[in-house]
Amino acid sequence: MQQRRKSVFASAPFAMKQAALGAGVAARKNGAPLSLAALVFALFVFATFLYNEDIKSITDFQFTSGATRAKSPDLHLLQEAQAAAHAAVNTLAKRGEEVIVRVLEAPLSLQATSNSTATATATATSNGNAAAVVDVVQEKERDVTLPTVTGGGGADEARRRADEEAAEKASSAKAAAETAALRTVVSVPETCDLYRGEWVYDEVNAPVYKEGECEFLTEQVTCMRNGRRDDSYQKWRWQPTDCDLPRFDARLLLERLRNKRLMFVGDSLNRNQWESMVCLVQSVIPKGKKTLTKFVNGGSSNVFYAHEYNATVEFYWAPFLVESNSDNPKVHSVPDRIIQWHAIAKHARNWLGVDYLIFNTYIWWLNTLDMKVLAGLETDIAACSLLCKIGRKGSFDQGSTEYVEVDRPVAYKEVLKTWAKWVDRNIDPNKTTVFFMGMSPNHITPEAWGNKGGIKCAMETLPITNRSASLDVGTDWRLYAGAQEVLPTLRRVPVHFVDITALSELRKDAHTSVHTLRQGKLLTPEQQADPKTYADCIHWCLPGLPDTWNQFLYARIASSPWPTDVTSQ
Ligand SMILES: *[C@@H]1O[C@H](CO)[C@@H](O)[C@H](O)[C@H]1NC(C)=O
Ligand SMILES: *[C@@H]1O[C@H](CO)[C@@H](O)[C@H](O)[C@H]1NC(C)=O
Ligand SMILES: *[C@@H]1O[C@H](CO)[C@@H](O)[C@H](O)[C@H]1NC(C)=O
Ligand SMILES: *[C@@H]1O[C@H](CO)[C@@H](O)[C@H](O)[C@H]1NC(C)=O
Repeated sequence: MQQRRKSVFASAPFAMKQAALGAGVAARKNGAPLSLAALVFALFVFATFLYNEDIKSITDFQFTSGATRAKSPDLHLLQEAQAAAHAAVNTLAKRGEEVIVRVLEAPLSLQATSNSTATATATATSNGNAAAVVDVVQEKERDVTLPTVTGGGGADEARRRADEEAAEKASSAKAAAETAALRTVVSVPETCDLYRGEWVYDEVNAPVYKEGECEFLTEQVTCMRNGRRDDSYQKWRWQPTDCDLPRFDARLLLERLRNKRLMFVGDSLNRNQWESMVCLVQSVIPKGKKTLTKFVNGGSSNVFYAHEYNATVEFYWAPFLVESNSDNPKVHSVPDRIIQWHAIAKHARNWLGVDYLIFNTYIWWLNTLDMKVLAGLETDIAACSLLCKIGRKGSFDQGSTEYVEVDRPVAYKEVLKTWAKWVDRNIDPNKTTVFFMGMSPNHITPEAWGNKGGIKCAMETLPITNRSASLDVGTDWRLYAGAQEVLPTLRRVPVHFVDITALSELRKDAHTSVHTLRQGKLLTPEQQADPKTYADCIHWCLPGLPDTWNQFLYARIASSPWPTDVTSQ
């Protein structure tokens, strides 16, 4: 008996490879069971494979899986898939040839041993997801000659019908299983503080994508292509102390985004993060099925569109969230930054109906100690106290130019209150999930991390390791505190604060530095040699730190329960 090993990956016709990868679903931490969907799905890869290969014998599938206990909102889908799997496999089983099927690579294992029994077991490992790889061992060389006709035309006809039926059942179950597998709820312990942890050098799991593999990255962030020599900044993975950050699964996120919109709103750091998110999801979308359009919506939006999912990942430029004289997404480098701190509607109408909103505002506040706040027309404010002078009457549209200077944290908090009021009044918390990003830190003062001869963040190749309470890279923690005070005041809409500040302060190595653009052009070698003038220690290389920020969003989005009504999706 000749033994032939066959991998589904190597031999599968059509989309099995993709299907098998899709079966990599989340396991629950602490050894809780894997989603049964993956298992059923793997069976289908297998069943379909068998069918196509014209192999004949498998009689009974017996699930010895604890996975049925998995807390899944889609249990009926799984059961349907399971039943259909049974039917299909039984039909195939009438056609007798010996086969052993194994799904390798824990946490999933599936065994079907020849003649009459097959067992499937699912076991979860303690550290999360693993893709299932289906490996088929065929005991006998497949008979490539036409089957011997023994029962005449009638038998053939019956067999053909049975085959068709099996194929049909297998394919519908495959679809059901596929959907079920992707409608997984990723487990993130609610009590775990994801933002407390450490950076771990991990060449295996980081980065999630490669610089050269994301056509959508702009020159601003492609540090390696722009001449950076060390790529170690891409290889640090954030490890929370009390749990694991779930592994990013683009298919799973896209399934969450099906027929939905996700939008980043804010300044160039949120644009940095938006680029990262586009790269994170785009890798699983084939060419021609994804589009990126810049400056739509009157110029303020960049929109990435995943055609087959009818999903968008968008960025909306509003560096202060409220209206300001810096709102032009292309031309906004104005010397005097002036905000209109009670005016938000003009921007906010573009945020209505979006399913996931991620806000930030920070960097634009740092230029001056005081913030310039638009005041009313001069005549209105002549005999007015400070607070009455500000904002309520003046508007850029009416040509106001007078402003009052207000202490930065006071103005920041006032802006957040304007924003919070809008969110609380206009967002439907049943439809929309709202995030507020913590402050992205700069690294301009090397003395802060003990590099006395350093120039800003230039030449930094390692994160700060001697972390101490006294680390002061210049973050304005008063604005952080302002956000902490305002966010809990929303009454209807919960806002998730993504607390990236302290963990990002350690990443002095991750900025674009001199490997970036200035006024739309790559730095020249001369400029690169002058980091004191040209190093950008505000923005971040990609792949890089913002990918981790997006993993926090992912953890939140993918761990929320699916709506119970599956047909409404
Ligand atoms: C399968 O067949 C072999 C002989 O071909 C036999 O030894 C074995 O017991 C059978 N397995 C089962 C589970 O029936
Ligand atoms: C596509 O997505 C948009 C935005 O979320 C949604 O309004 C629309 O209904 C979707 N289209 C279909 C056909 O579901
Ligand atoms: C959200 O949905 C729940 C259940 O359908 C409903 O009771 C609640 O009033 C809704 N909340 C809002 C703010 O609409
Ligand atoms: C550790 O950090 C402090 C600043 O927080 C710095 O003064 C000191 O030199 C650093 N030590 C080392 C070994 O880098």
